[in-house]
Amino acid sequence: MRMTVIGTGYLGATHAACMAELSHEVLGVDVDEAKIASLKDSKVPFFEPGLPEVLERNLENGRLNFTTDYAEAAAFAQVHFLGVGTPQQKGTYAADLTYVRQVVEDLVPLLEGEHIIFGKSTVPVGTAEQLQELADSLVKPGSHVEIAWNPEFLREGYAVKDTITPDRIVVGVREGATAEAIAREVYATAIAADTPFLVTDLATAELVKVSANAFLATKISFINAVAEICEQTGADVVALADAIGHDDRIGRKFLGAGLGFGGGCLPKDIRAFMARAGELGADQALTFLREVDSINMRRRDRVVQLAKEMCGGSLLGKRVTVLGAAFKPNSDDVRDSPALSVAGSLSLQGAAVSVYDPEAMDNARRVFPTLSYASSTKEALIDAHLVVLATEWQEFRDLDPEVAGGVVEKRAIIDGRNVLDVAKWKAAGWEMEALGRNL
Ligand code: UDX
Repeated sequence: MRMTVIGTGYLGATHAACMAELSHEVLGVDVDEAKIASLKDSKVPFFEPGLPEVLERNLENGRLNFTTDYAEAAAFAQVHFLGVGTPQQKGTYAADLTYVRQVVEDLVPLLEGEHIIFGKSTVPVGTAEQLQELADSLVKPGSHVEIAWNPEFLREGYAVKDTITPDRIVVGVREGATAEAIAREVYATAIAADTPFLVTDLATAELVKVSANAFLATKISFINAVAEICEQTGADVVALADAIGHDDRIGRKFLGAGLGFGGGCLPKDIRAFMARAGELGADQALTFLREVDSINMRRRDRVVQLAKEMCGGSLLGKRVTVLGAAFKPNSDDVRDSPALSVAGSLSLQGAAVSVYDPEAMDNARRVFPTLSYASSTKEALIDAHLVVLATEWQEFRDLDPEVAGGVVEKRAIIDGRNVLDVAKWKAAGWEMEALGRNL
């Protein structure tokens, strides 16, 4: 099948390359000349394991190409995926739909014949209906554009796997729409492998995505709230999560207590969900998400407080190593990163902060140019009075407490992600603190 993918960020670039991998003919489209030049040159402008290989293979076999030209996109295919960003609006909680609307405004007047636009971006419920009205007002006489919604559930770090073998496919359509049949062709490989394929109305498809992210955020904040109680009572949140996780109605996934969630999706999606509920006059339904957000933010403060205590009451003049800058391992994304937020706060309170991350250094430097950045874990650890493990990269999990202990000034560490072997680190003489545990 021929298709375009409009917007070549994390979502769109991955979707374009993976659709080509599934034997479709794909044209990726973006207004960012530099991004398109890089992708054409077989370079992924962000870190995503496995994606460079898929990109290169499909550029070479000719199934994948990129352009900044909407006229080329309009002529290339009758199926278009829309994957541009919906960031948080400045000054409010709501999602900014400027880019999504802009795509419709730029593309639709150029289309001839029958076209389908599958929205993949995470949007407030009701957006697809509004875009359909917008498209109807812009389309050429005699041509027709159908808007359908096909939310994307990929996780950064597993984006290729999640796109090629998704755990479910959801397509929101209007009554009498042709989008379902087209979606079945697009996702034929996954459907043949018995992937659940759910067809809903537009509003439900939009809500599936934000509800899934709100649920995940709530699950993380739930265990982090319990962690606060553990800290007051001497209980251990890791043992507790293991125990409740054995109940298969609960499950152990996303009960990882620690510094909490960040990234380009969970924080902004729960805020946009609250904002939309308010617009709909249903704000009470989602006020609990405000608490989910607060619990999450409090964990960052807790780490800074622990750091201060471990440094004898003041961070002034203390050298603190922060291991991690990305919002999670296997990503170079620092958007709303708990690790960088902690590093920034420690610095603002007078600590000399040295940050190291295996992949996110350039992005971190751009956001927080005032922190100092080391070129390796070992360099970051030199003469530290305190180490904070803030993103659980494998390299940090594998740190040898004896080797690390030989480099630092003082053997003191905060495990912000509850991934280190406490007995081993304590046996090596480290003073250790963690979230939700009394070590
Ligand atoms: C998320 C959703 O998982 C994905 O389905 C959606 O399409 C986009 O948003 P992503 O932002 O890539 O994906 O990250 P995810 O793996 O969900 O992690 C989100 C955050 O939660 C990270 O900061 C992670 O460190 C944190 N987290 C995760 C925890 O703090 N504890 C956990 O147990 C799990």
